[in-house]
Amino acid sequence: MSLHERFDELARRHAEAELGGGEERIRRQHKAGKKTARERLDLLLDPGSFTEIDKFVVHQSHDFGMDEQKFPGDGVVTGSGRIHGRPVFVFAQDFTVFGGSLSEAYARKICKIMDLAIKTGTPVVGLNDSGGARIQEGVVSLAGYADIFLRNTLASGVVPQISAVLGPCAGGAVYSPAITDFVFMVKNTSYMFVTGPDVIKAVTHEAVTAEELGGASTHGGTSGVAHFSADGEDECLALIRELLTFLPQNNLEDPPLHPTLDPADRRDESLQAIVPDQPNKPYDMKAILRAVLDDQYFFEVHADFAPNIVVGFGRLGGRSVGIVANQPAHLAGCLDINASVKAARFVRFCDCFNIPLVTFVDVPGFLPGTAQEFGGIIKHGAKLLYAYCEATVPKLTVITRKAYGGAYDVMSSKHIRGDVNLAWPTAEIAVMGPEGAVNILYRREMDSAADPGAFKDAKTREYREKFANPYIAAERGYVDEVILPRDTRARLTAALAVIATKRDQNPPRKHGNIPL
Ligand code: HXC
Repeated sequence: MSLHERFDELARRHAEAELGGGEERIRRQHKAGKKTARERLDLLLDPGSFTEIDKFVVHQSHDFGMDEQKFPGDGVVTGSGRIHGRPVFVFAQDFTVFGGSLSEAYARKICKIMDLAIKTGTPVVGLNDSGGARIQEGVVSLAGYADIFLRNTLASGVVPQISAVLGPCAGGAVYSPAITDFVFMVKNTSYMFVTGPDVIKAVTHEAVTAEELGGASTHGGTSGVAHFSADGEDECLALIRELLTFLPQNNLEDPPLHPTLDPADRRDESLQAIVPDQPNKPYDMKAILRAVLDDQYFFEVHADFAPNIVVGFGRLGGRSVGIVANQPAHLAGCLDINASVKAARFVRFCDCFNIPLVTFVDVPGFLPGTAQEFGGIIKHGAKLLYAYCEATVPKLTVITRKAYGGAYDVMSSKHIRGDVNLAWPTAEIAVMGPEGAVNILYRREMDSAADPGAFKDAKTREYREKFANPYIAAERGYVDEVILPRDTRARLTAALAVIATKRDQNPPRKHGNIPL
C-alpha cells in the first residue's frame, strides 16, 4: 500500500466510524426526536475540544451472525474534551448501533475513560441511550455492566459523575446512572425502568405507558431518581455545562471562583418584610435565596421533587455554595421522607466536593402521620441528621422563622458543627410551636378553666413571648448573631470568606454506617 493509500485508509475508517449504525438509523434517531451521540457531544463540549479514543474498537462476538455486523466504535463514543475550558471525560452511547446496547468491548471503552478520570481527577459525563445488555453477548455483557458499576462506586466522592438519560435506559442499565451524582432526563424521549411496561403487564397486570412508568416527569417528580428534567436535549446538555461551573474537578480541589460585580455588602430591603406577621402564613424561601446570592441567581437541583425542601447551588462573593432551605410554601416546610432523603444526598455531595453549605431554616418539624411513620421517617430523617453531622465543609445557617424540635437540631445547628449560625429577629427556636406546647403543658388546667379559650390564648401568648424568639438560643451561643434580614448577604459573604479555609476531620474509620 502506498503512503497515500495508507492515509486514505485512515480517512475512510474515520468516516465509517462517524456514521455509526448508518444513515437510515440516524434518520430514525432524528425522527424519534433524538440527536446522535456525536451531535450530543458537539453540544456538550467546548467547540473543537473533543479528542476521541477507541474509535476503531469492534465487538468480538461471533454468535447470531455477529461476525457479519461490525461497526467501528461498537455503539459508544468515548474520549475527553473541555467544558468552559476545564477537562472532562465523556462517553456517549450510540443508539444507531445495536440500539446502543452494551457489549464487552463497549464496556471496556467506558471503563478505560473512567479509569483515566479517577487517576487524573477529572469529572465524567455519560450520555446514556441504550437498549441495555447486548442480548447476543449474554453474560459477557452483564460482566461489562458490573465493571462499570464498580468504577462508578470507586469514583464516587473522588470525581463528579454526571449522567444524562437521553433515550431508553432499561434493566441493569439504570444502575450506573443511579450511582452517579446527578441524573438528567429529557421530557418525552427518555425512560428509565428496571422492568418495562410489557413485563409489568404480564406480572402485575398493571397497564402503564413507558412515559408514565419511567419518563422524566415521573423520575423528576415522583421517584426522585432524576435531578433535572429538561424540555429538550439542547437544554439538558446546557444544564450539564452549567452545573459543572459550580463544581471542583475532584475531591482534592476547591470549586472554581467566579468573580462577580454584585457587591458583597448589597443590602436587600425586601427581606425586611418577607416573613409574614402571622406565623402560619407561607412565603417563598426562593425569594430569599435570590436576594442573598451573587447576581440574584440560584441554580436549583431536584426542583420538582419534595418541594418542601429546596436544594441547589449559588455563589457568595464568587465562591460556590450548596444551598439547603426549608420551603414554607410547601407543606409548611415540614421535613418528610422525600425531603430528608433529597437533602441528605445533596449535603453529602457538597461535603465530598468541598462545597460549603448554607442552610436556611424555617421548619415546624417532621411531618406527622401514619404514612410517614410506616414509611420509615425515623430512618430517613436520620439520614439528613447523619449527613449534616458528618459534613466537615464550612457550614453556615440562617434561621428565618421556625426552628422547632428535632428539625432544629437537624438543620445544621451549632450542636452538629454549624460554623456560623445566624438568626433573624423573626426566628422562633423552641421544642415545638406555642399552640402545641400549651396543649400539652396546660391540658388539665384548660379542662377546668372557666373560659378554656381565653385561658389557652393567654398561655399561648405567654409561651410565644418567652420562647418564640432567637434570644434564648443567642444567650447560650447556639446562635452566633441575630441579624437584620436585609444584611443577610453581607453577613454570609463575610463569614464565608473567613471560614473558607476551615479544616475539620472525622475519626479514622473504614466508613460510617449511614442509616440507609
Ligand atoms: C441487542 C438491541 C438491543 C439489545 C435494541 N437492540 N436493544 N440489540 N441487544 N438489548 C437493537 C434492535 O435489534 C434494533 O436493531 C435497534 O437496536 C433498535 O431497536 P428497536 O427495537 O427497533 O428500537 P425501539 O423501537 O426504539 O425500541 C428500543 C428499546 C427496545 C425499547 C430499547 O429495542 C428494547 O426493548 N430492547 C430490549 C431491551 C432489553 O430488554 N434489554 C435488556 C435489559 S436486561 P436494528 O438492527 O433493527 O437497528 C439488562 C441486564 C443488565 O440490561 C444487567 C446488568 C446488571
